[in-house]
Amino acid sequence: MSLFAYRLRGRETPSRTSQVVAITRARMARPATPGGDPDAQRRLCRGMRPAGPGPLRASLIARTRFSDERVLAAIAAGMPQVVIAGAGYDDRALRFRSPGVRFFELDHPATQADKARRLRAMKAGPGAGGPALAPADFRHDDVAGVLAASGHDAGQPTLFLCEGLLVYLDQPACVRLLSGLRARAAAGSELAASLATHREGLDPARVAALANSRRRNAGEAWLTILPAGAHLQLLGQAGWQVHGTADAAQLGTGAKPGRSLLVTAHPAASITG
Ligand SMILES: C[S@@+](CC[C@H](N)C(=O)[O-])C[C@H]1O[C@@H](n2cnc3c(N)ncnc32)[C@H](O)[C@@H]1O
Repeated sequence: MSLFAYRLRGRETPSRTSQVVAITRARMARPATPGGDPDAQRRLCRGMRPAGPGPLRASLIARTRFSDERVLAAIAAGMPQVVIAGAGYDDRALRFRSPGVRFFELDHPATQADKARRLRAMKAGPGAGGPALAPADFRHDDVAGVLAASGHDAGQPTLFLCEGLLVYLDQPACVRLLSGLRARAAAGSELAASLATHREGLDPARVAALANSRRRNAGEAWLTILPAGAHLQLLGQAGWQVHGTADAAQLGTGAKPGRSLLVTAHPAASITG
């Protein structure tokens, strides 16, 4: 199938990569808040086409642990808003449901329509304490405007989560999305992101082409895989100051070193790059 056809299909159907991630996560032991639903991921996945463990399981466990920790730390610190970009079938709004904390989810309209249907079936839609769903295509939509229209308060601190997402966007779209999130980031906000990386000295286009040729879900192509330094520069260009990085391999799940960088950042006073 041509890349054009892949992208066309991706625009019309729910994200399969996100379903596979969710199905894999539904088998993991994870924390939940006292008011949260520890069974949310399994319930969200009901009726999805089954998926096996897959070669990226160790990396997925690492980044899941990282993101869960960031969300729980934000809630513990009194952060009143969590924005999950490229949320797919992320269950954190239900798993980590907490008084006074609002969850906003951004994703492609086709995936959000299916997620909304599933949330309604679980009686966990926006009116029932579920997340606010804000459809956006990060290739061309104004994310800051979409968040404003969905009720996000740019005057209050927010945890912004970009997990397993930026690899699916080209570099200009990564910077546009991250800049849009930065525009909504009050002082005290945090960005937590996973970045797809490769070692210095390789051609990023060739790395991505080779990686896509080996993937089962290559219909959703990986577009941005960069050396760590170059990837962090994109965050700087978008107005984020990195304050923490960890290779996914450091989390001890068996993830291969040098492939995935887990990053936290704060809104920068000025934009670099
Ligand atoms: C691998 S999934 C990760 C889902 C979720 N962050 C997680 O870790 O469970 C990638 C997600 O990015 C979304 N995505 C990819 N390209 C997008 C775009 N151009 N606009 C909006 N969402 C996009 C997909 O719909 C999908 O839900």
